[in-house]
Amino acid sequence: MQKIKNICCIGAGYVGGPTMAVIAQKCPDINVTVVDINEQRINSWNDPDFSKIPIYEPGLADVVKDSRDRNLFFSTDVDAAIEKADIIFISVNTPTKTYGIGKGMAADLKWIELCARQIARVSVTDKIVVEKSTLPVRTANALKSILENTGNGVKFQILSNPEFLAEGTAVADLMAPDRVLIGGDVATKEGRTAIQTLVDIYANWVDKDRILTTNVWSSELSKLTANAFLAQRVSSINAMSELCEKTGADVNEVARAIGMDSRIGSKFLKSSVGFGGSCFQKDILNLVYISKSLGLNEVADYWEQVVIMNDHQKNRFAANIVKTLFNTVSGKKITFLGWAFKKDTNDTRESAAIHVADFLLKEHANIVVYDPKVTADQIYKDLDYLEGNDLETIKKLLTVETDPYKACENSHAIAVLTEWDEFKTYNWQSIYDNMLKPASVFDGRNILDLDKLKAIGFNVDGIGKP
Ligand code: UDX
Ligand code: UDX
Ligand code: ADP
Repeated sequence: MQKIKNICCIGAGYVGGPTMAVIAQKCPDINVTVVDINEQRINSWNDPDFSKIPIYEPGLADVVKDSRDRNLFFSTDVDAAIEKADIIFISVNTPTKTYGIGKGMAADLKWIELCARQIARVSVTDKIVVEKSTLPVRTANALKSILENTGNGVKFQILSNPEFLAEGTAVADLMAPDRVLIGGDVATKEGRTAIQTLVDIYANWVDKDRILTTNVWSSELSKLTANAFLAQRVSSINAMSELCEKTGADVNEVARAIGMDSRIGSKFLKSSVGFGGSCFQKDILNLVYISKSLGLNEVADYWEQVVIMNDHQKNRFAANIVKTLFNTVSGKKITFLGWAFKKDTNDTRESAAIHVADFLLKEHANIVVYDPKVTADQIYKDLDYLEGNDLETIKKLLTVETDPYKACENSHAIAVLTEWDEFKTYNWQSIYDNMLKPASVFDGRNILDLDKLKAIGFNVDGIGKP
């Protein structure tokens, strides 16, 4: 078997960056080059100050520090990195299509295809190409066809190696994954060799029995299925939260009671304002689109309901704020604690906070946002994408604070949108003293001690609480 000396990863984002940093640390004999067309992003990865790397993940700066400029490199020279590489990981974004056929549902494979064409054009030696981004089932076929038909006659093996890391715990997940999944052409000797090559890389730090190998389609579909199941758990508990509010049950108690059934399990049962992140909604819509294209309408409807339920949860949370504040929030100051889609990340993609802000802005509320890791720039970018919003007006209605206490001053209500740990440690008495009365807290993450807040004088509302 060929000895792997050089790995290239196209895409220096939330998946490519951390994954390659860990591979570089665990495989000091392999040179790992992460490339991206976004020069600013690459510059940040190369920043002499490691706290300035573009992605915030606990422990990531240390891992990067360990290998950067030793066997981990960040560059914008995509061609050079491809040419040198024995293995190329494709880790570019695959957002939902915003135009044409499959708009709002299908994955936009434009970026993947561009990568494939570039790899084909540049390669002069045989290569293993690994799909790391989540892709619709059978994308490997398209990749193969482009590589084989436009290449210089070199041989390509295509593997699917979906990443299961969750943001906020990326480094821990990469260091000790539940499993590593590698799909490839199991029917041919070359395919099996390619699979084994990638297995050997992971085997540097992952237990062999946690490395699964399958055919390429099973691997692609497993990734979509895992995300669909996880999202479904959140929508299921969120559906129960509304029922709890109407019946006097407490969703935390229900979650605990069902979670002790080993067949159900206790994880991923936290009721919330709704799931966000770059994967869940995109992957489910993708699954729905694929199912519909294959004529499987019942399958499509079944999974689409998970997204419908999630939209309902976000709406319900926002509508409840309006209702509680005497059916009008016009001109009222509402403080958002948290903007990221979950704690310990600066990622805001599909964050519930964006949706809740949009709802309240349409009601003419004044919003002040505090998030420990998200920049004002990013927050305005997130709102700029929404239809019918003009940024100048938004900037008048929504401001961003870097001090949480200041963000809460003179506000009518606080909405907790992200479960940052620091929110639990605030001096809530002092926050209460500086707010307008009646002062309300809407805990969209069920992290605060609502009894204590009630004792201080707050009106409190949690998710799925009687
Ligand atoms: C169920 C609950 O498991 C139990 O906790 C509750 O008290 C009563 O309802 P039961 O109906 O006896 O128990 O059987 P169960 O093992 O849950 O199976 C129910 C049905 O689901 C069966 O038809 C079974 O074949 C089917 N099933 C179960 C599957 O098709 N696939 C599975 O993975 C599990
Ligand atoms: C997810 C998958 O977990 C990961 O395996 C896959 O590789 C990428 O997608 P991620 O989006 O980073 O990871 O975060 P995750 O922890 O799954 O949370 C997704 C969303 O669900 C967040 O908004 C989170 O707040 C929400 N969530 C999660 C809940 O509301 N309740 C829960 O119990 C769990
Ligand atoms: P993910 O969460 O999947 O990692 P990101 O959006 O964080 O997604 O990262 C994807 C990265 O891929 C972006 O930084 C983007 O600039 C980069 N990218 C997209 N297309 C190409 C391409 N053809 N060549 C190089 N980089 C690309």
